[in-house]
Amino acid sequence: MKGRFVTFEGIDGAGKSTHIGWYIERLRARGIDVVQTREPGGSALAEALRELLLAQRMPIETELLLMFAARRDHLERLIRPALAAGQWVICDRFTDSTYAYQGAGRGAPGERIAWLEAWVHGDLQPDRTYLFDLAPQLAAQRRAAVRTPDRFEREDTAFFERVRHGYQDRARADPSRFVVLDGEQAVSTLRVLLEEDIVTLCNT
Ligand code: TYD
Repeated sequence: MKGRFVTFEGIDGAGKSTHIGWYIERLRARGIDVVQTREPGGSALAEALRELLLAQRMPIETELLLMFAARRDHLERLIRPALAAGQWVICDRFTDSTYAYQGAGRGAPGERIAWLEAWVHGDLQPDRTYLFDLAPQLAAQRRAAVRTPDRFEREDTAFFERVRHGYQDRARADPSRFVVLDGEQAVSTLRVLLEEDIVTLCNT
C-alpha cells in the first residue's frame, strides 16, 4: 500500500476550500485512509506559528523562515509518518504557496526559497497539486462575502496578481504534478474533473 501526497493551492478565495472536504469524502468512499491537514499548521507547534504568521507584521525574511520552520515540524510529526503508514495526506497549501506568496508576492528570491525547500524536504514532493486559478478581483468578491480577512487576505489586487502569476509559473514548470482548475467553472464541472483525476491517481 503506497500513500499519496496531494496538495491544494490557489489565491485566497479561488475555491480550494469548497472542494477539499468533498475530495476527501470521495477518497474515503473508495476505502482510502486519508489524513486532512493544512499549512501553515498541521502540528501543535506549526499551528502556533500559523497564529503568529496570520496576525503579525514581520520582515519577509522572518516570514519565510517561520513558514519553513512550521513546515519542518509538520513534515516530521505528521506528513512523513502518515505517508510511511500508507495513508493519503491531503494538505491545504504547501511549498508552492511559499513560492507564490513570499516569492512572487513579496519578492523573496526564488533561489533562497529553493535552498530552504531542498534543505527541509528535497526528498519529498507532492504527487499531485491542484491549482485553483481565478482572477484576483473575483476572488476578492468571494472572500468579502464569507469572512473577515487575515493579514495575507488584506493585501491589494496587485499583490494577488503577482501571487497568481507565481502559481502559474510553478504549474508550467511541472505539468505532470499540477492539475490547473479554472475557478470560474461551476462547482459540479470541477468535481467531474477532480473525480477523474482521483481515478488516475489510484492507478499510478
Ligand atoms: P489559508 O489556510 O488558505 O487561509 P484560510 O484559513 O483563511 O482559508 O491560508 C492562510 C494564508 O497563509 C494564506 O493567505 C496564504 C498564506 N501562506 C503563505 O503566505 N505562504 C505559505 O507558504 C503558506 C503555506 C501559506
